[in-house]
Amino acid sequence: MDYLISQPQSGSFNTEIMRQMPDFTEIDITETEFIDLLEVSMMPIQQFFTYYKCAIMEIETKFKVLNEQFSLNGESNPIEFIQSRIKSYGSILRKLSSKDIPRSLDGIEAHINDVAGIRVVCSFVQDIYRLADCFLQQDDITLIEQKDYIRNPKPNGYRSLHLIVAVPIFLENEKRLVKAEGQLRTLAMDFWASIEHKLRYKKDLPEEMLNALAGDLKRCADESARWDAKMQEIRNQLEDPAEHPKR
Ligand code: GTP
Ligand code: MG
Repeated sequence: MDYLISQPQSGSFNTEIMRQMPDFTEIDITETEFIDLLEVSMMPIQQFFTYYKCAIMEIETKFKVLNEQFSLNGESNPIEFIQSRIKSYGSILRKLSSKDIPRSLDGIEAHINDVAGIRVVCSFVQDIYRLADCFLQQDDITLIEQKDYIRNPKPNGYRSLHLIVAVPIFLENEKRLVKAEGQLRTLAMDFWASIEHKLRYKKDLPEEMLNALAGDLKRCADESARWDAKMQEIRNQLEDPAEHPKR
């Protein structure tokens, strides 16, 4: 599931179940009873995903507020755009199987950190670290894990700053801590990752060719990192020529 919409997938899941609805003339239950039963049994699942949707709303708001505040300081908005998504049922089930995690809502909650995903895309690398620092300093955010694939890119060239956090959501009678994965990256990192993600599934090619293409992709990643560094340098020179003289 790619990052496009901040809607849980429960609608499409329901549609899938409805498509497989039994022939009620053959079983000892009326259609109304079946629908009632379905609604009752779906409720905990829908509620479970609603928590993640709320966590996304909380985190998106935090980044939007920081974006506004940075622009009040006379700086341009650091965030280009934010994309969020709830992990699809299919991806969750595949991850459960691959990691041998119990197939239960408790299993998902305990072991899958990216049911809620928030991607924050910035123009400049320095803004990523400033935003991440401000976000993590907030006293209701708990950092669970940080992976800095900008300072330590993956061997294939992937770059982004990943923050696994827990955020409280306030419900009618309770406060729940919900985990979410934040991915902060520049436009250039996002451009590379989006294309690499699309190409990753084309594996039915000779190994030699795949190796050569992986090498090309890695060179593109390194080249776009140089562009990011250059753009940062240009901005530093424009904003503070005395501190960053043109070489
Ligand atoms: P999993 O989420 O179980 O894979 O845990 P992990 O520890 O491997 O997480 P990791 O931080 O490596 O990646 C989490 C997410 O980052 C993925 O779901 C992607 O959205 C993104 N990502 C990580 N590596 C790559 C990559 O090589 N290419 C692209 N396009 N995206 C990546
Ligand atoms: Mg992974």
